[in-house]
Amino acid sequence: MEELKNLFIDPEQDIDRDAFKPASYLRRVIQLDSEISRAELHITACGLYSAYINGLLVTDEVFTPGYTLYTKRLQFQSFDVTELLQAGQNVLSLIMGDGWWRGSLGATSARNAYGDDIRLAALLKVIFKDGNEQKIGTDESWKATQDGPIRKSDWKDGEVYDARRELQGWHEAEYDDSGWHVVRPAQYDGSLVQSEGEPIRERERLQPKVLTTPDGATVLDFQQNLFGYVQFQLNAPASHEVLLTHGEVLDENGNFTQKNFQFKILGRSVMAPLLQEIRYIAKEGAQTYKPTFTAQGFRYVKLDNWPEPVLPQNFTAIAVYSDMHDIGRLRCSHEGINKLIENTKWSLKGNFLDIPTDCPTRERAGWTGDIASFCEAGSYLMNINKFLAKWMKDVALQQHEDGRIANIVPGGGMPKMLDGSAGWADAAVIVPYTLYKMYGNRQILADQYDSMTRFLSFMEGRAKRTHWRNRWRHNPHSDFVIDTGYHWGEWLEPGRHPMQDMIRNILLPDAEVATAYFGFSAELMAEIAQALDKASDADRYQALADDIKAAYRHTFTDDGLVRSRRQCHYVRPVALGLLDHSDNQRNVSLLNKMVTANDYCIGTGFLTTPFILNVLCDYGFVETAYKMAENEKSPGWLYQVNKGATTIWEKWDGIDADGVPRFSFNHYAFGAVAAWFFSYVAGIKPLEPGFQRISIKPYPGGSLTYADCSYRSAAGPIRSAWQRDGQDFSLMVETPAATEIHLPDGARHEISGGKGTFTCQLS
Ligand code: BGC
Repeated sequence: MEELKNLFIDPEQDIDRDAFKPASYLRRVIQLDSEISRAELHITACGLYSAYINGLLVTDEVFTPGYTLYTKRLQFQSFDVTELLQAGQNVLSLIMGDGWWRGSLGATSARNAYGDDIRLAALLKVIFKDGNEQKIGTDESWKATQDGPIRKSDWKDGEVYDARRELQGWHEAEYDDSGWHVVRPAQYDGSLVQSEGEPIRERERLQPKVLTTPDGATVLDFQQNLFGYVQFQLNAPASHEVLLTHGEVLDENGNFTQKNFQFKILGRSVMAPLLQEIRYIAKEGAQTYKPTFTAQGFRYVKLDNWPEPVLPQNFTAIAVYSDMHDIGRLRCSHEGINKLIENTKWSLKGNFLDIPTDCPTRERAGWTGDIASFCEAGSYLMNINKFLAKWMKDVALQQHEDGRIANIVPGGGMPKMLDGSAGWADAAVIVPYTLYKMYGNRQILADQYDSMTRFLSFMEGRAKRTHWRNRWRHNPHSDFVIDTGYHWGEWLEPGRHPMQDMIRNILLPDAEVATAYFGFSAELMAEIAQALDKASDADRYQALADDIKAAYRHTFTDDGLVRSRRQCHYVRPVALGLLDHSDNQRNVSLLNKMVTANDYCIGTGFLTTPFILNVLCDYGFVETAYKMAENEKSPGWLYQVNKGATTIWEKWDGIDADGVPRFSFNHYAFGAVAAWFFSYVAGIKPLEPGFQRISIKPYPGGSLTYADCSYRSAAGPIRSAWQRDGQDFSLMVETPAATEIHLPDGARHEISGGKGTFTCQLS
């Protein structure tokens, strides 16, 4: 849509770079002289837009045009608007807000990341029944004003809306816009691409319970932590001002708080607080409102100055996220586990808004490591294929010249000096590989191949350097050990403080983690090259992976045996395939002892939490895996469920014995365990990419008496439903393709698809 490029306009007159800005309102009357056969609107903005024709919204999509690496590319949308137009006069009207373009972004809430002015381009193409065509673009004939009701619209901070300033009749042709100003032509230098992700839409709608907290505040409890906004209706006198403040949890005294998501360094606030508030100034009488260009991460909303009795039916929380298909369901006999899976799905929804984010509050940033850990679990829960394929393009576009991968994508306004962290940067390989395995998306391997190979070359170069503190040690494998660069490490392991870990990681890079991921990515690359019929690349990456494995074994183990007090050190080499089978067996036996001695509490952070239960099951410790999954003490998954969590917490001890909430309460990383429930408890795994061949190998155990899982795979619907009654085990399967069925007693069956029931005795 190159034509759009010449149609950018800037609706603003003067810009105060540092102030929060009001929304811009734009309009143009269009005369169409004949009967319309078909009409389409192509539209985009540097900022966010809402478009209306004759007063009706052209789409149910929100937060258009979505978020891409704006320095390089911008999405446009195309809508069929035939039904909205008529022969004669029509009005095309638009509202624009700051969005990701110049609203607050990331941990520091820095603004103007991509520019300090907003811009818009639209092209209305009308084909008449007589065969003629008319094109109307955005040009200097458009009129604009910043004098409408939205006085501030910030992505993270919220909106100020003055209903008294609503522009009565502005969608009508007769509206007097003589006081509005003309727009000026503008430019956008990146490329324009048709929307690639999933449309962002309003989804679930929830009503609150009304609480009066111990400090006397009126708080709405929507009973679900989510990302979205509140729609409300009220009856008020003109100029009455109400305030809605959004938070995720109640504090240790049961009062509303936002403390947990303020950005602090070593306990100190380093910038203005994140407000997440809606300030609404009423017009006279009955009125309804919902935000246009902002959304909040919340379960609780504190209401200030509400002018009438607070009735739950006057408030609706609307969850907003990229509209992906819900493809995975698992229910079992343990209600806590069912809730954990539901919470994980909610954390996915709360963090999948055109880009995958860490949390929908403090940072709202596209952290690569979080999605690398969660990608497989997410792939079982919802169809995230298209969504992540779109994001991966930005990962490649943001890649450094030297092949390093950014920690945060898109990275507008984010610091870059810590880029290239092991386990984070590897998202460049892990995410495409996972989409290939889970959805059969071979195209993404081809599309990302250049980026992946450049990343691997960067890592090879990095391995050739040796950290000055290690230079005196002779290591014959040092060319395959990465001990330089910055690495976040295991991250958020129980009992460790993230800031202290960060400082330690700056002083001395975690070579064990960095080398392990180097080996893992090289191994995946060998498989990826094979899938793309690049045999010589596959051989080269396999040889590289073998060299790294030898280096890992030599440098970080005692002849294959791990010696450590940390669970992650046992899980990582086994899960990432760095040791051989007999080493693995010895190490997982040690891990099993360690977990048992730890009273089945989890001891892992971001990087190995996705694997710990798999590794225990693979080496015969199924009951230990279940005891860990079902453990209700802290740290553990069910601890947070029992504490009333409705999403996944960022920290295992997000709420500790002192009751003080800490960090974010909507971080999906630890929800990566959901993959274990689908692929081990229900046992559904792809044997070939996209489930063209399937393995169903359930691992019954723990207190579970049944598990029932349905998964809508790329090959068709799969069901694995088992129950146990004492030692009697029975499994019902339904599959769309050739399937290997493995029963817990070791029996193996093959079916070419369809339904079947299998029984065995458990030992
Ligand atoms: C984010 C993470 C991210 C991490 C880097 C945090 O502040 O919220 O989820 O991966 O920084 O370690």
